[in-house]
Amino acid sequence: MSSSVFSAAEPRSAAPADQWWRTAVIYQVYPRSFADDNGDGTGDLAGVRSRLPYLRALGVDAIWFTPWYASPLADGGYDVADYRAIDPAFGSLAEAEALIAEAAELGIRTIVDIVPNHVSDQHRWFRAALAAGPGSPQRQRFWFRPGRGRHGELPPTDWVSPFSGGTWTRTVDPDGTPGEWYLHLFAPQQPDLNWNHPDVRREHEDVLRFWFDRGVAGIRVDSATMPVKDDTFPESAHQHAPGDHPYVDRDGIHDIYRSWRAVADSYDQPRMLVGEIWLADRRRFARYLRPDEMHTAFNFDFMMHPWDSGGLRECIQSTVEAHGLVGAPPTWVLSNHDVTRPVTRYGRPDSSFGFEARRFNTPTDLALGRRRARAAALLSAALPGSLYLYQGDELGLPEVEDGDLPDESRQDPMHLRSDGADPGRDGCRVPLPWTTSGPSYGFGPGGRTWLPQPTWWGRYAVEAQAGDPDSMLTLYRAAIRLRRTEPALRGEVFAWVTGQSEHVIAFRRGENLLCLVNFGADVPLPPHDTVLLASGALDGDTLPTDTAVWLRI
Ligand code: GLC
Repeated sequence: MSSSVFSAAEPRSAAPADQWWRTAVIYQVYPRSFADDNGDGTGDLAGVRSRLPYLRALGVDAIWFTPWYASPLADGGYDVADYRAIDPAFGSLAEAEALIAEAAELGIRTIVDIVPNHVSDQHRWFRAALAAGPGSPQRQRFWFRPGRGRHGELPPTDWVSPFSGGTWTRTVDPDGTPGEWYLHLFAPQQPDLNWNHPDVRREHEDVLRFWFDRGVAGIRVDSATMPVKDDTFPESAHQHAPGDHPYVDRDGIHDIYRSWRAVADSYDQPRMLVGEIWLADRRRFARYLRPDEMHTAFNFDFMMHPWDSGGLRECIQSTVEAHGLVGAPPTWVLSNHDVTRPVTRYGRPDSSFGFEARRFNTPTDLALGRRRARAAALLSAALPGSLYLYQGDELGLPEVEDGDLPDESRQDPMHLRSDGADPGRDGCRVPLPWTTSGPSYGFGPGGRTWLPQPTWWGRYAVEAQAGDPDSMLTLYRAAIRLRRTEPALRGEVFAWVTGQSEHVIAFRRGENLLCLVNFGADVPLPPHDTVLLASGALDGDTLPTDTAVWLRI
């Protein structure tokens, strides 16, 4: 067996404590669906506080909360009405402060979500803009434009929203006549902010300080490539050279994050920024991670890849190389609140992820998906960098699909605005099962849940898995424990190991840890001292298909 280190960097030791984010395991909480303390069917901060011991036992270093601020929840909280208030459905600011402090006592850091591209149409700025009318200074904080056509009856551009449909909505003037249009790349309830306006910049820096002052350790930056617009509003948004798209990845964007980084660095214990950056071009992606910008970004390329050794190997290689250009640590992401759960995805004939490809009634082999999701868990947990884990993936929850989510229960604008063609994202947001039976499977005392739980949900409950050596939860707990205890996994040394079948991904961490993932027919295990962890039963010294193993060598 030969090995080659392609990273030019000298082997580095474990990250110093103030760079915890380089190797952290970060657990994503979708507060609405995690745990419901007051029994109203919606998860809340008191529910999270009561479950902190669970997260501590899982071994995570940090929690990323999707937006918990005051919001009409037109897009699950990504329509923020007030960053300085917690939505009453979730609790109060005092509870958020208590939660941050209690988590910190357990050694768990808190990351909050900031959504610079837009606010809620109920935000005080937008209400003031509508009330003040055309030409007013209040409207300058957004993108209000007259329509095209003789009577302004056509939208200023024909851009298509990621939520389907157009990106402009016409307003009604205070005197009742049809007025200007405003831009919303997402839903009409999410008007886009004008980042050329000094108020917009100042306000976001204040919001960062507001949360950093409360002990928050990091910020997840939502839709991070989109806030800066071409203010000439060209009609078409298709086919652009890098940096020349009217609203994705324009060069002016970096200035914003440099100023955010300065705010983050102004604290004694510097705070971190992680970007939601969907960009196929790895070099453009890496620009966001330059030393004076964000610290890390989600690796969606890895998440979207089908279950295939060649493609995933290339993706890992290009990930490490692109991050090496700027000295940033990679992240490894298998899912989040926007995408189909891995157990379901990997059980499909096409196991890649794409928003446009989602359809109802897609045939799925869940046993196959589970086997692969377990192997993917060990693959991602063994790679150098930080690991993101979306709530419920540690339980191996499948996507809740089709008849299990009746049409009238669906709430995601991606579904509602697609005329029902796209199932949307509700299927990965169903409230978690904590107990095998009982009202709402232990989610809350009232038995109500904001999305219906399927009848088979109890099988996946924490209670069912906690003592089961073969459960997904046991696997995740063991993997995260080893990430803490094995120096090889805490360091950044990574080397491909060649000489294996092309269907096997094999790499070494540190000097003595080998990770193998077999995508093809059974293969013999290479010589080793101990099996540290395997995602499925090993057949003697054979690694079966769709199985991963960590070996001490
Ligand atoms: C991000 C969020 C997603 C939200 C969108 C608009 O992609 O992850 O949930 O709908 O931004 O804010």
